[in-house]
Amino acid sequence: MTLPASIRITDVGPRDGLQNESTVVSTGSKVQLVDRLQHAGVAGVEVSAFVRPDRVPQLADATEVFEGIERVDGVVRSALVPNERGWEAAREAGVDKIAVFTSASERFSMANINCSIAESLERFMPVVQGARVDSIPVRAYVSCAVACPYHGPVEPSIVVEVVSSLLELGVDEIDLGDTIGAATPADIERLLEACSTVIVPGDLTLHLHDTGRGALACCVHAMHLGVRSFDASCGGLGGCPFAPGASGNLATEDLIRCCSVLGVETGVDLEAIHEASTGIESELGRGPASVTGRALAAQS
Ligand code: HMG
Ligand code: MG
Repeated sequence: MTLPASIRITDVGPRDGLQNESTVVSTGSKVQLVDRLQHAGVAGVEVSAFVRPDRVPQLADATEVFEGIERVDGVVRSALVPNERGWEAAREAGVDKIAVFTSASERFSMANINCSIAESLERFMPVVQGARVDSIPVRAYVSCAVACPYHGPVEPSIVVEVVSSLLELGVDEIDLGDTIGAATPADIERLLEACSTVIVPGDLTLHLHDTGRGALACCVHAMHLGVRSFDASCGGLGGCPFAPGASGNLATEDLIRCCSVLGVETGVDLEAIHEASTGIESELGRGPASVTGRALAAQS
């Protein structure tokens, strides 16, 4: 078991973070947040979501946010897309990558995207085909890869089935979501081992919410097992409006600081991420939530 020389971080704060806030942040503040994250050196930013505005009003301005942001070289700007309607809007907005999203839990799928897992895969088919024509890469999330908010633990074999179906559809990237932040390092090991029959860890991304405060330990264990791509969220913002009780993603600051202690390169400037986080936190009327953010705030 060895640690990698480097990992890639996608900051999902502007999407996963802001979708879960009761305050609707202005378009200008979202643009500023995305631009700060781009300049901080993350590999990707999940900018917004082209979903039903009545279901996620916090992100109803996805098109305007894409209009306003800079196009910083080397950063991939992506958005969630649930269906063809979302794909058309995302394409027009000039996204670099789209992320379709399904689940390993039927109940969560219904609550989140109003269809069964099988129906979601059918919806994705024309989206993936369209994206291929336009040379836009497709990430595919599998939520509830460890546990479901409605019925508890999820068997890795179910995740493997969903991952296989997504790979057959032709998606470019699989992102396993611990939607409610329940995973332990042992769960992650079991999951990666089960998935290794269809995808190697080096081709996976992990998206870990930090409800149980185990996300950082899971990331480090996953790095030892070959995962090289992680989602994180500035300031630990996040949660899913359709996953009751789930808190934010692993904070980008905490992941960067841990990597720096371990000698794993991220290419991300901690101070710049901290600035992005404090900007949006003050907009939301609160102080730093991440351990690293609090430590940095105390020093300044
Ligand atoms: P639906 O109701 O099944 O869609 O929505 P429909 O096809 O029946 O259409 C109903 C109406 O919605 C129609 O409008 C459509 O045009 C409109 P009407 O004709 O009645 O006026 N519509 C849309 N409008 C805008 N954009 C669209 C769109 N699609 C249909 N794309 C849908 C299905 C999935 C769209 C809906 O349920 C939805 O938007 N859900 C929200 C999903 C969401 O954003 N969840 C949170 C993000 S997922 C997450 O957080 C997990 C993740 O972080 C990973 C993890 O942590 O595990 C990714
Ligand atoms: Mg999430």
